[in-house]
Amino acid sequence: MKDDRVGAWKDTSWPVNSGLSVAQPPQEKLEAPRSLRFVDLFAGLGGFHLALQDLGHRCVFASEIHPGLRALYKENFGMEAYGDIRQVDVADIPEHDILCAGFPCQPFSKSGKQNGLDDPRWGDLFSYMLRVLRHHKPRYLMLENVPNLERHRKGTTWKTILELLDAAGYEVEPKKLSPHRYGIPQVRERLFIVGDRKELDGFEFPPETNEKTSIRTVLDEKPPNAKGLSEQALACIKVWQNFLDRFPGRTLPSFPIWTMEFGATYPYEDTTPFVLGAKGLRGYLGSHGTPLTDLDEKSVFAALPSYARTKQERFPEWKIRFIKQNREFYDHHKGWIDKWMPQLMRFPASWQKFEWNCKNEPKDLRQMVLQFRASGLRAKRPDTAPSLIAMTTTQVPIITWEDRYITPEECAKLQSMKGIKLPDTPTQAYTALGNAVNVHLVGRVARALLERQPIAPKLDLLHETREDEDLDDAAALEESRAQMPVALT
Ligand SMILES: C[S@@+](CC[C@H](N)C(=O)[O-])C[C@H]1O[C@@H](n2cnc3c(N)ncnc32)[C@H](O)[C@@H]1O
Repeated sequence: MKDDRVGAWKDTSWPVNSGLSVAQPPQEKLEAPRSLRFVDLFAGLGGFHLALQDLGHRCVFASEIHPGLRALYKENFGMEAYGDIRQVDVADIPEHDILCAGFPCQPFSKSGKQNGLDDPRWGDLFSYMLRVLRHHKPRYLMLENVPNLERHRKGTTWKTILELLDAAGYEVEPKKLSPHRYGIPQVRERLFIVGDRKELDGFEFPPETNEKTSIRTVLDEKPPNAKGLSEQALACIKVWQNFLDRFPGRTLPSFPIWTMEFGATYPYEDTTPFVLGAKGLRGYLGSHGTPLTDLDEKSVFAALPSYARTKQERFPEWKIRFIKQNREFYDHHKGWIDKWMPQLMRFPASWQKFEWNCKNEPKDLRQMVLQFRASGLRAKRPDTAPSLIAMTTTQVPIITWEDRYITPEECAKLQSMKGIKLPDTPTQAYTALGNAVNVHLVGRVARALLERQPIAPKLDLLHETREDEDLDDAAALEESRAQMPVALT
């Protein structure tokens, strides 16, 4: 690695947490006990960097594989980020006091393939991070990942990770945190893991503030780049508003509305369509009451809801419950539903499902935040935005009362990254923001970790001697070779 790749920290006057609006609760600017050095691995947009810089610490090395994000890192922080962490010679990474890493979550995410540490593309990255830890032995560790990391493969992946961190010499503490419990209007539960090579005595994750939030606090007035809703999306929202208007009760039930069950009779409790096959389904009714009798095999399954076509001998309990609840709902409300339903039929199947997550709220979609999801059109109270996600941009939250999607700049505020330079295209910006860590939350956790009493130790205590390191390193490496499911290069 060339020296110039390891950018020197530059004191940029970064507008982080400036103009702290209601969306970014004011943080008292503390004098850092002393300026610590940190590395930002899997840097992305630099969420860790923003938070630690704001606390007076300085970045001495960053790594990010995506060239576009690296270019942005230079613009935003005035330093070069190195590329693929696998290509870095650990000895070239400068000494540091804090290692930060939001290592890629795809292998552990519920929405991914769940290959974990064996994932061919990303699974080994944890071990590369570990290599940096073992070599440099920074005093502190701050990691972030999806909450499913703890549950992945029935907890065995998590156990391995804890053992490896322990073997590397860290006392660690994990906690699931979401910005919406700290004054930021985004629900985004993530697993934060902090570590200390000495001990975590006196460390507590920051107490939740649970103050009232509103998505309105991040909205700009008539943002010029706001993307409006398509005619089809507007029409679909109107049809669901009509559903709410016709529904005679005060509030909708909490189960998802699966209109395909309205009029359906195919068996689902003791058996499944997969078990019965096309012949066994003769005489029954499929989605929206479609007769299954005179159809060829392919058409029979096409006439069933996609969730009922799964190759299962028994549906999971939740699915059985939702089908039952929807059929009962239809029996009860058939009179008005039959008049309402024809207007819904021209929309794609996922738009024919609806989730009302606004118990006790007025039945007015224009007051709610909407999202077109694979599971249906979801309505949520406007106090928080749903979690920004990187996998797809079709689920960008809708500001219904303004007939538009939330803009990337507004999403940046949901990540407490107000004012940073974002990727040029909205798709890239939404993706990067969906991958990022919330800066306000990192700041809160970092202060809790670094500013414990007694105040952070003097810098010369932060590192053990090189001789100690070499001995520890050899032992740790041997141990990890025995344990790691992936080869260390
Ligand atoms: C979950 S995101 C972390 C986002 C970051 N914490 C932020 O605040 O934006 C993981 C990042 O790791 C990067 N990445 C993936 N593989 C990498 C590798 N081999 N070396 C360096 N970065 C990598 C991805 O491009 C992605 O930006």
